[in-house]
Amino acid sequence: MSDVFEKCRSWKDYRIAKATGLYPYYRAIEESYGATEVQIEGRRIIMVGSNNYLGLSADPRVKEAAIKAVERYGTTCSGSRLLNGTLALHEELEQRLAKFLNREAAVVISTGFQTNLALSSILGRHDIVFADRQNHASLVDGIRLSFATERKYRHNDLEHLEQLLQQAAEKEPKAGKIIITDGVFSMEGDVCDLPRIVELAQKYGARVMTDDAHSMGVLGEKGRGTSEYFGLEKETDLVMGTFSKSFASLGGVLSGPSDVINYIRHKSRSVIFSASMTPATVASALKALEIIEAEPQRRARLLDIAEKMHNGFRAMGFDTGVSVTPVVPVHIGDQVKCFRFWRALHEAGVFANPVIPPAVEAGHALIRTSYMATHTDEQLDRVLDIFEQIGKKLDVIPQTRPSTYTPVQIARPGTMVRNNKASEKWAAASEGTNGYHGLTLDQLSRMSSREVAGKLFDAVETLTWRAANLQPEDLRKLGQMPMKLWEKRANIPGMLLEKGANFFIRNGHEDRS
Ligand SMILES: Cc1ncc(COP(=O)(O)O)c(C=O)c1O
Repeated sequence: MSDVFEKCRSWKDYRIAKATGLYPYYRAIEESYGATEVQIEGRRIIMVGSNNYLGLSADPRVKEAAIKAVERYGTTCSGSRLLNGTLALHEELEQRLAKFLNREAAVVISTGFQTNLALSSILGRHDIVFADRQNHASLVDGIRLSFATERKYRHNDLEHLEQLLQQAAEKEPKAGKIIITDGVFSMEGDVCDLPRIVELAQKYGARVMTDDAHSMGVLGEKGRGTSEYFGLEKETDLVMGTFSKSFASLGGVLSGPSDVINYIRHKSRSVIFSASMTPATVASALKALEIIEAEPQRRARLLDIAEKMHNGFRAMGFDTGVSVTPVVPVHIGDQVKCFRFWRALHEAGVFANPVIPPAVEAGHALIRTSYMATHTDEQLDRVLDIFEQIGKKLDVIPQTRPSTYTPVQIARPGTMVRNNKASEKWAAASEGTNGYHGLTLDQLSRMSSREVAGKLFDAVETLTWRAANLQPEDLRKLGQMPMKLWEKRANIPGMLLEKGANFFIRNGHEDRS
């Protein structure tokens, strides 16, 4: 009989990551200095790994509102909205949000994740959901929890979406249809092509919903998110937002027609079977909303910062991909190199997040940075300097800056840009064609023995990691290799010694660097 716990005992990725010092998760923050800097393991480091886009979590007005709500209502409502968990404050927040978002009604739910799960209540077995393949996990789960059929289209590939809509129109003309997409994609920072999505929705009779977790407070003249940015608020049926990012709190909102919102309030299991947002989280979201409405200069500053950072990285030779937002991904490509880059950043005093498949496509490992309107130029310049030093050391960028670079386009109000053109490197990574190409003998001969030893160490570390994290595509590439290696396992230590540097040396024509 097998033991359900066995997979946990034999799970070695975690042990190897810890042993090699390449474990980047669950870093405990001991202090926060205005949110832009934090203390970890006694060291103060710059935070560029948070979604606190407007920096409001440290705003004295927001803190004060949370404190006052606790004093007035206590720490929790101890029950669901349906029963004892509705405060006048929840209702005030819902009314203010509906007004802000220009919609009939809004419902607030305890987390953004649960807000997307609540979707499942309106998706029945005769409905079809058309979903971008890179949608956030909470949307994926919300759809999965429903009885609807899901049809995924390739990321932002609206020809593919049209094919799927066309097929459905022919084969299932009576099915209810909805297109669901992230407004801003959380890892790569590009914006969905809402104008085309709306066109297709109208042509094929589908509803449209956007997840504006990363765009509410950030995009559009007034910060209402993707549909405001594109001037398509009336054409977008449902809008979701979360309070854990620009709203400096915790919780989420779904906004749209009042009969739909009312249905969700009464039917969604993540609403009626879960305790409501706490007084402090409601009050801080309310205060943040007030500030978002009153201080558009924060959004402007955030977009200026985004432009500075994208261009700063690009000038050094880094690739920031297709992003047009304050989510600034720094492309690394290789997964292990990405973890090593992360570790070097951490040691040098920068908090950023490594992102690896399946959160991004294979070959697209990246360091995700994101910014706050409250970052100072001094902090940002320091982050750029540190990235440049590490980028050179790990051969992610050239030793001398390229003579030109393509400046970024930013999603400022009125521009309607959706993404930046993918570089060849970025596109090649999508096709899985840019691996590690090794060093030439010539490059090697110019290195000190210390550097060679360093490279060897890196190669062994990489191999160890790869071995522990073999992916299906690695196995496909390897073909019969694993079996052959396994048969020869007794010889491997000798082989390693004998071949030594050949592990990472590849000669001449294969090197594309
Ligand atoms: C696009 C998107 N949707 C939904 C969520 C879930 O929101 P929360 O973390 O506030 O529960 C997130 C959070 O990471 C997100 O990025």
